[in-house]
Amino acid sequence: MTALLEVQDLVVEYGRGRKAFRALHGVSIDVAPGECMGLVGESGSGKSTLGKAILGLAPVTGGRIRFDGKDITAVGRAGRRALADDVQVVFQDPYGSLNPAMTIGDILSEPLLTSGLGGAEAQARVREMLDRVRLPETAMDRYPSEFSGGQRQRVAIARALVRRPRLIVCDEPVSALDLTTQATILDLFIELQRDTGVSYLFVSHDLGVVRRVCHRVAVMYQGEIVETGAGEQITRAPRHPYAERLRLASPVADPVTQRTRRAEWLALREAADAPVR
Ligand SMILES: Nc1ncnc2c1ncn2[C@@H]1O[C@H](COP(=O)(O)OP(=O)(O)OP(=O)(O)O)[C@@H](O)[C@H]1O
Ligand SMILES: [Mg+2]
Repeated sequence: MTALLEVQDLVVEYGRGRKAFRALHGVSIDVAPGECMGLVGESGSGKSTLGKAILGLAPVTGGRIRFDGKDITAVGRAGRRALADDVQVVFQDPYGSLNPAMTIGDILSEPLLTSGLGGAEAQARVREMLDRVRLPETAMDRYPSEFSGGQRQRVAIARALVRRPRLIVCDEPVSALDLTTQATILDLFIELQRDTGVSYLFVSHDLGVVRRVCHRVAVMYQGEIVETGAGEQITRAPRHPYAERLRLASPVADPVTQRTRRAEWLALREAADAPVR
């Protein structure tokens, strides 16, 4: 199948001259239509940078990004605006990502009105989205501060979906939520993908989270992708030593397994060449 998103040898450098910092060293990744591609890796490994580069928010100095066969590496403002119909984002922080001065109805209809949809049609679409993310219609007249973290994340997801995009970059979308809420929001992501065929690039540092939602997973380490494979294989039996350390570092509910894992992880860490936090 042809990829919806194709990233090839991508290089991102922040700053210039002696202060330049290379955050991505030639990253390649692809996402198929209807696929959830996971991106895991420790803090600072470059996960958000890759997401931002796809959204046109990071300084790309090499390589290429293609969406639906078109080169979007260096599209201008107008091109980006048009691309917003197809590529959307959900961030980690459900508190910071919604305008507190706008009602949920306005937050959800704004992207539709700016893309040229009529008022009545926009209203109908907003109702449909609220229903999809299981929020009551009465949410329309309320403000973000009147909702819990999980509910706000439902609003953020509805906002990302309202223009019927083909790809959503999800950057740690459940990391700020408690475990029970995480589970229901992850199920929502799965259900929405099944119903709409949208693709996800799903960033997380939590292997348990990606195991639940992702078809394939790429492991990032210090600005490079060190392993890509089926979600099941990467999260249970990764080949790369760093990915294995990441697996052993992710917590499990059973205290006995957790103790064994911790011992294995410490042994691996001692044997490893690269430092781990
Ligand atoms: N705007 C920026 N200017 C300079 N350096 C940056 C900038 N944004 C990110 N970096 C650096 O690039 C590297 C990758 O950062 P990035 O945010 O992509 O990591 P991450 O994998 O998303 O980490 P986390 O799990 O903590 O969110 C880090 O070393 C970071 O300090
Ligand atoms: Mg990040």
